[in-house]
Amino acid sequence: MSVYLNNAATTWPKPACVAEAMAAFLSRGGANLARGSSSERDMGTLNSVLDCRMRLAAFFNGYEGRDPRYVTFCANVTEALNIVLRGFLKPGMKVLTSSMEHNAVMRPLRRLEKDGVVVTLIRSHRDGLMDMEDLKDKLSKNSFDLMVMSHASNVCGTIQPLKEAALLCRDAGVPLVLDTAQTAGVLPLDVSSLELAALCFTGHKGLMGPQGIGGIVWKPDFALKVEPLVTGGTGSYSHLESQPEDLPDKFESGTPNLPGIAGLNAALEWLETTGMKTVASKEQEIGAYFLDKLKIIDGILLGGKQDMADRLPVFSINVKDMDNGILADLLSRAGFETRPGLHCAPAAHRSLGTFPEGSMRVSPGYFNTKTEIDAFLKALTDIIQES
Ligand code: ALA
Repeated sequence: MSVYLNNAATTWPKPACVAEAMAAFLSRGGANLARGSSSERDMGTLNSVLDCRMRLAAFFNGYEGRDPRYVTFCANVTEALNIVLRGFLKPGMKVLTSSMEHNAVMRPLRRLEKDGVVVTLIRSHRDGLMDMEDLKDKLSKNSFDLMVMSHASNVCGTIQPLKEAALLCRDAGVPLVLDTAQTAGVLPLDVSSLELAALCFTGHKGLMGPQGIGGIVWKPDFALKVEPLVTGGTGSYSHLESQPEDLPDKFESGTPNLPGIAGLNAALEWLETTGMKTVASKEQEIGAYFLDKLKIIDGILLGGKQDMADRLPVFSINVKDMDNGILADLLSRAGFETRPGLHCAPAAHRSLGTFPEGSMRVSPGYFNTKTEIDAFLKALTDIIQES
């Protein structure tokens, strides 16, 4: 069995309760959502979806006293960002983003740019931190309709100064949309205090849920201004041929990923019971252990931040004179799973100075042990010495 060190792509393994809840939904529950009667099976689905929505509204401290209606389910954070960006931005509008973004932000924005949306990038430092002076300067000189930023880099783990950015956006009257792909379930997130317009999340990374489920936590007045990307049946207002304006129905057409919601709900319960802080501090501890030992290996080039302050345990490394794809392949053959290349984030790699070659990303997680880290670093050292 190989050692999994690719938790930034998706966390693995999942707590056992996740698969159990999904199997239980499929084998013993299984009713569609709001598309039946009031049978026990129908009510079971209704209650479990509401339960998950309430848990998420509480987890992210959603608006209107954590009103679950302002939680939208969709497939993943990419879809969530598309719903928000493509539903809100119209030709002629101006949007601000950072130069550390994943393509989940950059591709929708570049597509919108073709339709006349003006996209402005905030510079970043070599450690992956957004240049706050540049942000201040741009906010003071222009009036933007929206800002979108990721909370932490999927390439090098750098955590952005979110509170400061949120305050600057609030003072400038610019709605802020947050991509929490790498931080939901890892760092505390408070949508209401940060006054976010929308928080986009995925279920399968820090939240420990299955793939195929993610969503949005909305600021209610912002959600009113967003056009739905997909329209269709919602199990409600069936007399109308127009899309309901009420949430969550406005953004949730078609049968949702119900096994995914069941799995996510179980994962959230596990996270609550285990404690997000406990999980995150174990991840930080294993990250610090990794970094300390990595630094003493000759020939390693580490991208982004060089210490553990304000970062996640996501490490972007290169070995001098070696292609990172070949390195990852050799490690994979030795039983260690990483992710080489550009990580769907060419802008971030440009900012870090690792474009076009990219890097090999190593992202340990909650279930990794120090023994596994030692074995990985030994394999890495052996490969370097043999090259
Ligand atoms: N965005 C994910 C990654 O960085 C999938 O690997």
